[in-house]
Amino acid sequence: MKKTLAIKQNGKTIYPICMEQGAEKLSETFSAVMGDFTGRKVCIVTDSNVGPLHGESVRDALLRCAGSVEIFTFPAGEASKTLDTVRELYTFLIEHHFDRKDCLAALGGGVVGDLTGYAAATYLRGIDFIQIPTSLLAMVDSSVGGKTGVDFDAYKNMVGAFYMPRLVYMNIDFLDTLPEEHFFNGMAEVVKYGLIQDLDFYEYLLAKMAEILAHDPEVVEEIVYRSCLCKKEVVEEDPTEKGRRAILNFGHTLGHAIEKTMDLTLLHGQCVALGMVCAAWISWQKGHIEKEDFYEIRDVLVAFRLPITVEGADIEQILAASKLDKKMDKGTVRFILLRQVGDAMISTDVTEEEMRNALLEILYVEDEVAD
Ligand SMILES: NC(=O)c1ccc[n+]([C@@H]2O[C@H](COP(=O)([O-])OP(=O)(O)OC[C@H]3O[C@@H](n4cnc5c(N)ncnc54)[C@H](O)[C@@H]3O)[C@@H](O)[C@H]2O)c1
Ligand SMILES: [Zn+2]
Repeated sequence: MKKTLAIKQNGKTIYPICMEQGAEKLSETFSAVMGDFTGRKVCIVTDSNVGPLHGESVRDALLRCAGSVEIFTFPAGEASKTLDTVRELYTFLIEHHFDRKDCLAALGGGVVGDLTGYAAATYLRGIDFIQIPTSLLAMVDSSVGGKTGVDFDAYKNMVGAFYMPRLVYMNIDFLDTLPEEHFFNGMAEVVKYGLIQDLDFYEYLLAKMAEILAHDPEVVEEIVYRSCLCKKEVVEEDPTEKGRRAILNFGHTLGHAIEKTMDLTLLHGQCVALGMVCAAWISWQKGHIEKEDFYEIRDVLVAFRLPITVEGADIEQILAASKLDKKMDKGTVRFILLRQVGDAMISTDVTEEEMRNALLEILYVEDEVAD
């Protein structure tokens, strides 16, 4: 079944999000949004995993509505999310005579989407781009909201722009080829939406656990749809993160710091799961949520194959890394807590001691075995 949502600003649609099982409607949807493209070019930007799996079918679909379609492929992985790759893409676009009326299509996970969006924002001072997310994380999070960018040396997402796609097109069937660990990586953000914004959705996740684990297509489509709905509500209210959009960072203050200090040995969603355990623990300690809520949140994460403890983490290093993040925010500590399950709040009074104690909660300690 096809579902659509529209991201709006001041009552005006900025871009639609279209979801379906199968890719039959891509050319039709593209034409409806972009108009007559028969004399224009599209460059599919993809990575070395997704390109061989889905590049040709997307190219065929786009060839039905565009004059020509090129494919630019770069090596998969966060290590490619750099200005060097953007430079190679600029060169490719120049050599293939792309001008301001042409379009880029990001076909891949968050790495492809962020990089393509940034290239689109800057090439010739901005050309159109569409998002065709293929990972669960990209479908529920990175393809919606207009944040684009690349990493710079060790600094994640250091260079970027807010730049809106013209269309986000999701074919849920793409998830069939997504490795399991990346599916569950995306589930961390899905659980996050339920916790921060939508109790009913959180309860749906609890009720449909078996179907989610079996990747039931109807249920997966529903969780993608409802996640996008949550993100839509938050980004429409605050498109450039001046206020409430910060609640999307639930689990991310400590999550990012863990990600950094673990040298990227854990996936983003896994670090966010650990960060959410910490944030939920502080929420409980401060009397916002109940003890049972805290343990249930942990159980949900475990059910979705996400970690709730970590081995070999250096608490002081994590705290130092999280302080670095804070400095970037003019020294204000904005920690996202749960007022209750399904409702997040921005807190400015979380102390370092509370964070340290929360981190102790997730530190994996092997049981001592007597010889
Ligand atoms: N812009 C935003 O608002 C935002 C939000 C969250 C995360 N991000 C960014 O997103 C990135 C993480 O995204 P991600 O988890 O999708 O990582 P990713 O793009 O690296 O994709 C994960 C892995 O899955 C592979 N893959 C993707 N789709 C596939 C498919 N259908 N079949 C087979 N393999 C597939 C990729 O090749 C890659 O190996 C990070 O760089 C992060 O900073 C951005
Ligand atoms: Zn995230």
